[in-house]
Amino acid sequence: MIKLDKISKIFTEGVIQHRVLVDVDFEFESGKIYIMYGKSGSGKSTLLNLISGIDTPTSGKITINGSEISSFNENNRTLFRRNNIGFIFQFFNLIPTLNVIENLLLPIELVKNLDKNDLIFAEDLLKKIGLSNRGETYPDKLSGGEQQRVAIARALVHNPSIILADEPTGNLDYETGKNIIELLDNLVRKQNKTMLMATHSQDVIGLADYIVRVKDSKLFIDKAN
Ligand SMILES: Nc1ncnc2c1ncn2[C@@H]1O[C@H](COP(=O)(O)OP(=O)(O)OP(=O)(O)O)[C@@H](O)[C@H]1O
Ligand SMILES: [Mg+2]
Repeated sequence: MIKLDKISKIFTEGVIQHRVLVDVDFEFESGKIYIMYGKSGSGKSTLLNLISGIDTPTSGKITINGSEISSFNENNRTLFRRNNIGFIFQFFNLIPTLNVIENLLLPIELVKNLDKNDLIFAEDLLKKIGLSNRGETYPDKLSGGEQQRVAIARALVHNPSIILADEPTGNLDYETGKNIIELLDNLVRKQNKTMLMATHSQDVIGLADYIVRVKDSKLFIDKAN
């Protein structure tokens, strides 16, 4: 479970204050898929960055599976993220100097020494995303949709309980985007992971257990049909 207690995030630029999130109380249940909407600048990416521990709240508490990450120092937040969270970005963020399989194995390498089972697991994931024969390929030789499939596999490879996705289909055409959604449905829902996805796309709504709207520095929730 992800629990937000009176979370505020205020960016100060000179004399101007951007009160992006103010006194937000919220609970994300484990094993559910949340799709987050809100107009540009409403604070969706900000919230994902706070939950992932990439950024810290101005005030308030964030507790994930019993750990109060908002009290952690940066080092411990990084360790917590590596062990518990998979992040999928709009622009894929694959490492250009690593081939597909090396990109995939990176999150595991960050927490332990690789062994044979890791390689088998990564090969299996490659198969699931339909790229089994592309392990040696470098990211710049892949299409956008293929890169995003690798990025999704990479976000899952260390078996995190929480997936955060920031507009994962924002850069893809409709058909490719639909493919990505199906892939997420297969990989995330079947493994009972918690996912929070920020998006502008209505096409992903079928994936949701809950819809979260970010508006006026607060979060509002709706049950999806
Ligand atoms: N480091 C920063 N310093 C100052 N202001 C910031 C900073 N990061 C974000 N903001 C501001 O916080 C607000 C929320 O930004 P955020 O990126 O969370 O929006 P978003 O909902 O993800 O928008 P989009 O749909 O365009 O991605 C914006 O007004 C943005 O300018
Ligand atoms: Mg954003």
